[in-house]
Amino acid sequence: MQFEWSPAFSVGIEQLDREHQYFFELVDRLGLALRQGCAASELGEILELLTVWTAEHFAHEQTEMRRNGYPEPETAAHLVEHEQAAEDLAGFRLRAAAGDMTLVASELASRLAYWANTHTLGTDMRFGAWLADQRHTAAGGH
Ligand SMILES: [Fe+2]
Ligand SMILES: [Fe+2]
Repeated sequence: MQFEWSPAFSVGIEQLDREHQYFFELVDRLGLALRQGCAASELGEILELLTVWTAEHFAHEQTEMRRNGYPEPETAAHLVEHEQAAEDLAGFRLRAAAGDMTLVASELASRLAYWANTHTLGTDMRFGAWLADQRHTAAGGH
């Protein structure tokens, strides 16, 4: 499966969009590495990049939710998904340090596809839709 970010996935905040685009690029890079049979050697670096990305992106998203007054329970539920993703990623890092790299890479690819579909294109876009609605109202729309 090929992952490509599209402007249709925008959450209305440029920095977050750029970060989502980068995430999709990493997912795509892992998929390509698997298809080319070099996932085992790429896995370590992809996990490193994902770990840095996760810490920065989740913090940025949390800041934007608070700054824009995103309500509860949506914010808390969203942050729980971030925590779970970070824990999952830590688990993959441990397994990569100990196990069959190609198997770990292929399971990581499935997990990333699942995150992209359920979180980035689900939970994150719900925040984006809410934000668009707020801006519309603030601009005097109905
Ligand atoms: Fe996100
Ligand atoms: Fe998120």
